[in-house]
Amino acid sequence: MKKIVIGNDHTALEMKRELIEYLEAKGYEIVNVGTDEPTSFNYPIAGYKAAKMVAAGEVDGGIIICGTGLGISLAANKVHGIRCCVCSEPYTAKMSREHNNSNMLAFGARVIGVELAKLIVDTWLESEFQGGRHQNRVDMIMEIESTQDLQAAH
Ligand code: RB5
Repeated sequence: MKKIVIGNDHTALEMKRELIEYLEAKGYEIVNVGTDEPTSFNYPIAGYKAAKMVAAGEVDGGIIICGTGLGISLAANKVHGIRCCVCSEPYTAKMSREHNNSNMLAFGARVIGVELAKLIVDTWLESEFQGGRHQNRVDMIMEIESTQDLQAAH
């Protein structure tokens, strides 16, 4: 992943700023669709905007941050094609790529500190989907999304 969209609500201003600086210094191209104002901001807006960019292939992946990571990930996961996982530690972030082929990462600015967030982001960006038996399972998830059913022989 080289081009990443970042979205956030008002709870994650400082964390978002630090992560953008951190990732740009590493050579990533960052698109910021989150709020830059400290006033209350409705997280579904940023989750939706970031998810649309990922689903359209305009970026390679997305990182979204609200207080818990929950609301913003729920919004993002409503966009077809999005697999957004809330990860509060690196192991889950790694597995979300290797097993679940996550294309968006979420976490909570009120849950973890910025240094842990950097570790989680690094791990997520450096991990690859393993395919194989995991592909069938991810296909099943996407079948549920597209058909609201699960007909495939499993
Ligand atoms: C904002 O107070 C908070 O609800 C939001 O940042 C997020 O945690 C929602 O899931």
